[in-house]
Formats: sequence, C-alpha cells, structure tokens
Amino acid sequence: MNFVLAVTLLALTTTTRITAANFHDYGDSDESIDEALKNCPNKQLLCNVQWRNNTPVECGLQQSIADLTGLAYCDALHCEPEAFRHDYLIRNHDQSPHANSWKRARIGERSTLHDVCLLRNGLPVTRKCEMKSMRAQWESIDDWQPVVCMRRFRERSVSVELNALHDDIIDGRRLTNTTQERRRTTAAMSGILRQHNRAMLPADVHVAGQVIGELMEQKRDAAVGSDLISVCREIMSCDIQMLRISSQLNATNSLLSKFEDYMDAMPEQFVPSESCGKAVIRPTSDASDSTENGVEILNYANIGVQALMSSNLSVFYVNPSCDDITGIAIYSSASSDRKTSVSGFYYRFLYANENLEKLRRESNLETATYVPEQLWRQLKERGATYLILKVYAHDGLFVETSQVRSRRPRSKVLSITIPGFEGEYLPQAMPLLLLNENHRQPDALAIKTGSGCGYWNYTTWLSDGITTSSGSDILRDPVIVCQTRHLTQFSFLVGGSYRSNDLGEEILVTPLNERVLDIISIVGCSLSLLGVLGIFVTAAVFKSWRSQASTKVLLHLCLAMTLQMILFVFINTDDISEQLIVHRDYSRCVLLGASLQYTILVLFTWMLIIAVLQFQRYVTVIGIERPRRYILKAALVAWTLPLLPTLLTACIDPASYLPTAEQLETDTGICYPSGYGLTFGVVLPVTLITVANLVIFVYVFYSISHSLSQSVQRAERKLVNKQIRLSVLLFFLLGLSWIFGIFAFMQAGIVFSYLFCLTATMQGFVLFVYFVLLDEANRNAWRGLICPTSMKMDVQKRTTEMQSMTTSSTNYSGRSGH
Ligand SMILES: *[C@@H]1O[C@H](CO)[C@@H](O)[C@H](O)[C@H]1NC(C)=O
Ligand SMILES: *[C@@H]1O[C@H](CO)[C@@H](O)[C@H](O)[C@H]1NC(C)=O
Ligand SMILES: *[C@@H]1O[C@H](CO)[C@@H](O)[C@H](O)[C@H]1NC(C)=O
Ligand SMILES: *[C@@H]1O[C@H](CO)[C@@H](O)[C@H](O)[C@H]1NC(C)=O
Repeated sequence: MNFVLAVTLLALTTTTRITAANFHDYGDSDESIDEALKNCPNKQLLCNVQWRNNTPVECGLQQSIADLTGLAYCDALHCEPEAFRHDYLIRNHDQSPHANSWKRARIGERSTLHDVCLLRNGLPVTRKCEMKSMRAQWESIDDWQPVVCMRRFRERSVSVELNALHDDIIDGRRLTNTTQERRRTTAAMSGILRQHNRAMLPADVHVAGQVIGELMEQKRDAAVGSDLISVCREIMSCDIQMLRISSQLNATNSLLSKFEDYMDAMPEQFVPSESCGKAVIRPTSDASDSTENGVEILNYANIGVQALMSSNLSVFYVNPSCDDITGIAIYSSASSDRKTSVSGFYYRFLYANENLEKLRRESNLETATYVPEQLWRQLKERGATYLILKVYAHDGLFVETSQVRSRRPRSKVLSITIPGFEGEYLPQAMPLLLLNENHRQPDALAIKTGSGCGYWNYTTWLSDGITTSSGSDILRDPVIVCQTRHLTQFSFLVGGSYRSNDLGEEILVTPLNERVLDIISIVGCSLSLLGVLGIFVTAAVFKSWRSQASTKVLLHLCLAMTLQMILFVFINTDDISEQLIVHRDYSRCVLLGASLQYTILVLFTWMLIIAVLQFQRYVTVIGIERPRRYILKAALVAWTLPLLPTLLTACIDPASYLPTAEQLETDTGICYPSGYGLTFGVVLPVTLITVANLVIFVYVFYSISHSLSQSVQRAERKLVNKQIRLSVLLFFLLGLSWIFGIFAFMQAGIVFSYLFCLTATMQGFVLFVYFVLLDEANRNAWRGLICPTSMKMDVQKRTTEMQSMTTSSTNYSGRSGH
C-alpha cells in the first residue's frame, strides 16, 4: 500500500519520469541491402546473424537478395560499447546522474547497461542492436525521455551478480574458449540462480539468455549441458508474474530458443554412433554433478541414449542406429520395466515397434513419444540420425503475452527435435502422449471447444498439423494421444476463457524508501485513529467536556480527519484504484477521488474557522457576545463550502481523477485529482487557507502580546498564552505537514518526505495527547472514572486546583463559547 506517496498530493506526479521508451519495437531495416551489395568488397565474408549456422559465405556469390536475409558482414555482427548517461533513483525522490555504457551486443539482441539499470517493474533498460546495410548499428535513442532507473531492488536479487558475470564474459575477464572455462562459467551462473534466499527479477531472465548467447559464439560443449538445464529449470520455476513481465522483452522466448538451439546441436557429442555397443565408462564425477546443480546424467551411449534429468526439465539424446530405441516414456510410479530417476520420476526407453494402444493404457503414464518404425525408415533415408527429446514439467517458460487466452496448457510440454528436419513436414505422423492434468484436477473454466494438442510458435499455442484423438470426453480422458506432422514443443491445452489480471502484473516491487514510508504512515495512521477514537470516547463519557464549544470544534476536526484516513488507508488505495481502472469503473474512481479531495478541504476549512474564531476572540471583539449557535453555523460552512471546488473539479474535469498508466505501473496511482484538477481543486484552496491562517496567527499573536504587555493581570495572560500555544500547535500540525508535503512534491529531498509522513499521519494522536492526556481536567476526570479511590485522596488537591483555574479550561476558541 502506497499510502504516503498518495498523501503527498504530489508523489502522484513525480514518478512518471521513468521511461518506457525502450519498449519501442524496431523492425530490421534492410532497405539498403542493394546498396551494400553494390559495394560488396570481394572476398568479404558474410555471417549468419542468428547463431544457428556458423559457416560464413563470401560476399558477391549470392544470386538474389533473398539469399542475403539474415546475413551480415562477419566483422560487423556486433554493436560496440557506447557511453550512456542516465540518472539513478537513489532515494525516494532523489536522483543522481551516472555515466554508464551499453554492452557489446549481437544484431537482433537487446543490450543492457554495464552497470545494472532497472525500471520499477524489474525490467532492465535496454537498447536494440539493429542491422542496417548489413552491419550492426545501435537503435536510435534521440527520442528517448531521460532515463531514471535503479541500481538495486528492495528484494535481495541476483541481478548484480549475474550482470557482473555477463560483463566479465563480454569484457574477456572470464574466458569461454576452453571446456574447463565454459564449465566454470555455466556452473557459476547456475550457482547464482540457485541461491534460494535471492529473488530473480525480469532483468535476470533477460541477462541469463544473453549469457547463453555469449556461449553460443563458441563451440557447443556437452560439458555445459547439465548447467544450462539447471539454469532453465530455476528460471521456469520462478513466479509467473515475474516471467510475464520479462516476456515484454521476449526474454522467456529468447532464453527458451537459445537453450533449445544449444542442446539440439550436441547429439554427436552425447550419442555418437561409434559408441554403439561399446562399454560405457561412467565418469565418477557424475554423482557430484548431480548434487551440484541438481541434474542427473545417465550415460547409455552403448544403446544410443544419454539422458540429462532433473526434477522439472530433462533432455534425452537418442541415436536409434544403436538399438532401435526411438523414444521415451515417463511415469509417476514405479514398475519392473521402469528405471528410477533420482528426481522422483520413472522412465523407460521405447522401441520403434512400440504398440501405441498398449502404451496408452499403461498406468501412471505422464508423457511419451517415439518414432514409429516406418517413419524412422523414411527419415533415415533422408539423413536423420539423432532424436532429441526434452520434457518440461510445466509451461513456465512458455509465456503468452496476450491478456485474453482461449485455452491454456494442462500437461507437460514435450519438445521433439530431429536435427535436419526443423520446420519440415514429416512424411508420416508421429505420435505423442500427454497426461491430461484436467483429468486429475478439473478446471472449472475448461470447455471442450478448443481443447486438444498444440505447439508453441514463440507467441502462442497453435494446432495446425496436429490431430488429437480422444474418447467421448476430451476433458476427462486420462491420457491424450496426438499425432503431429511437424516437430517443435507440444502440450495438451484445454479450452476456456482465461484472462490474466493485466495491469496488476506490471507491478513487481517498490524500492526500499517507499516501503519505509509506507510503514511509518501505517503506524502513524493507526496511532492517529486510536487517538481520534480516544477523543471521541472522552467526549462521549464526559458531558461537561463535550458541551464546551472548543470540544465541538475539535470533534468536527477529528471527524474530518477520521474520514480522510479511512479513505486513504482502506478505501482509496492504489490496489483498489487499479482494480477500478482495470474494470473501467471510472465513475467509482471519480467518486473516491472526490471524497478524498472533499475531506482534505473540510479539514482545512475547519482550520480556517479556528483561526477566524481566534481572530474574533482576541483582536476585533474582545468581550462581545458571539451570535447564537455559531458552532452550528460554522459547521454548516465547513461541511458545505468544500463541496464547491470538489463538484467543480468533478464536473469540469472528471478525467483528472483517474490515475495514469505510469502511476499504476509504478504503484503510486490512486484516484485523486491530477493536473489542473490538482492545482485548482486542492493545491490552490489549501495554499490560500494556509496563507490566511499564517497571516491571522501572526496578527493575533502580535496584537495580543502588545495589548497584554500593557494591561491585563498575570492569570489572564497565562491562560491566553496557553491557548495561543495550542493554536500554534494545531497550525503546525495541520498546516506544516502540508508545507512539508509541498516540499516533497517539489522533490526537495527525502527528509521532507519523512517529515511529511510523520506529521501528516500523527495528527490524531497528537490532538489526543494535547486535548486529553495533557489537559488537567480531562486527565483527572479519566483518573476518577478508572480508580475512584485514588481520586478521593486527591480530592483536596484537585479542588484547590480547580479554584485556581476558575474560568480557565482548554477552551482555545473562546471563554464565551460555553
Ligand atoms: C582463449 O582466448 C584467450 C584470449 O583471447 C587466448 O589467449 C587463448 O589462447 C584462447 N585459448 C584457446 C584454447 O583458444
Ligand atoms: C519444479 O516446479 C515447481 C512448480 O513451478 C516448483 O514448485 C518446484 O520447486 C520445481 N522444482 C525444482 C527442483 O526446481
Ligand atoms: C521472440 O524470440 C523468439 C525466439 O528467439 C523469436 O522467434 C520471436 O520472433 C521473438 N519475438 C519478438 C516479438 O521479437
Ligand atoms: C504465431 O502465431 C500467431 C497466430 O497465428 C501469429 O500471429 C504469430 O505471428 C506467430 N508467431 C511466430 C513467431 O511465428
């Protein structure tokens, strides 16, 4: 709850400078390829921009422009580091300039800054490296707003460590050109992500993908396979909201596709045909590997299988030429023909002649797939050698960005690759079996329409080229059997109308200071409410006090204050405002904002009334009778006058009550006037009243000290002094806190934010202390009520006291006001 920032009229408008400029999407502009070709220097080499194919081709040998897509000069594949200045948000509103620099990046990548630079939702500030004229070039940032970002978050996150690792690789402080060095690097990354006391931010998903990208610049190395699995497994188990935010940078997709690419390039290393039938030397380090990063490596290269297994993500390399094994089945329970994985599941290898019907009926099958004999024969003729299967325990890395989905995955995700057949249609269908999680835990929203197997196209789940066979009720079938004609990642999806709570997810974390301010304000408000309650109770119990005019004014003040705090703390919070905006319930938001504005204005009007009463009392009309029932009249004014600016604002500019998208994103948005509504509907009246009060008090104080110094007796003077002290207290309490607020609004520094929070929220409590605890009559009345015996002993003393006080009470608004 960001109560205080809200109170600060103000903070409302201060946080909007965080830029969203880096989310522009720029397409590759290849229009100048012709130009580049004309100038194509002989023998200059062209390289693939993607990491897929690393063999360079010679410039000028291409037949057409189409041949050039995805190619760039090999010596211009990277955007080189470039200086960049931005501000760090160091304390609540304070900023300090910082000289940073963009990291070297490959074409198509979104580079991050050398020193961590995080936006409030945990995303990094990024800049795209684009291709222009077949050369890498930084995206233009001319139209960016000033960037203000944070170095770290309240949560202990892995960002700084992971960023340092990435930096070290890019700057060559950490080498990756030998197996040993690569292994050390990936083990370090996996170690960083496996710290369980650290949170992962969207920025970390992005940087993890970039580190894998750096590894892809080198030879693919089987030694790092288990570490990469461990990295992906850690990330896919993260908070869904966090992954959703990171998907704004395409970070989950990018990580997923790099991981798949890397793993898919290594079957020759894991299951070479030469190993078939040869005794396997199982390295003793395997055991330690599995405890180190949680990935168990099983080497059955003699029968053409090697498996890297972990709890949520496993990769199987299969070479059918050894033993005709062409698939794998995974189970959740043991059986004599199943092997046990230390990660808590069971598996067995499937042969090309497997019987699909029998397989489908096996108990506790989680997922299975195999290449049938006939299909494998055809594929082999066309050059297929290996099969790579990956099993993702859930769809954590498959993040759909659209807010409304018509179906969602309810099974494991099974990824099938046959190197050489990516993106090609298979001559025959290949079966895959998936356990239907909807069978065990039915989803009330699920409907049959749209249910079936689907594949991931890096944006959403599609179903073309896949057939789903099912019995009578697809939602209740325990195992779903699908046939696919192309290869990628598959899952079983159930239809339904799924909606993510859009805006709510953009918010991840708030920086430390806001947290501290939140706590101060919540504690302060609670004390304040307790204090106000104390005043009400005192008034209810003691009739004599209640009937004083000064008490009546005080009660009105307390009522306005209570309303205001209840609105701030419980009703008009950023969460609730957000919900209203999400559900387009704008009129309710205007109503909330207007009530808040109204209570603030009522409070100030009462302050003005107190000042005016003082003025009448001490300056103009000493001794003159007040009009009858003047408190009632004052109350009428105080509760109706503020309606005027409130209604004017609400009628002329209702839109000004709605928080902006940026405010919602940064968790500072409440329904409250902004812009002109704020200036004329709140700041102007509040300022006018504050200035008027200031003038009245200075004038009253001046004239009293003058007139008193000449005449009046000491007793009278003492009483007046006391009342003046109270007036000053009130003024400071109510007025000063708002002056601090205005300073904080103008970004004068964190000290003002704290002062504002303290003074603004403690008001009720301080009033209680002054009017009840420190007031002798009230204190004694309470003491008498609670322990009458001690009171009797006191009675003598009290009577004398009472006598000496005579007319005096804490009646700050006038002795004739009874
Ligand atoms: C790895 O790179 C470093 C620095 O570029 C170089 O000195 C070293 O010889 C390279 N090692 C191998 C095995 O290529
Ligand atoms: C596997 O994923 C589940 C769900 O995200 C998670 O709760 C669990 O901790 C993960 N297991 C491991 C070992 O990462
Ligand atoms: C996201 O990344 C995936 C995999 O790298 C890529 O295929 C896709 O086009 C990217 N999407 C966007 C919007 O950049
Ligand atoms: C995936 O499919 C959707 C819907 O058909 C399409 O709009 C999108 O461009 C596709 N994405 C990719 C990366 O092919």
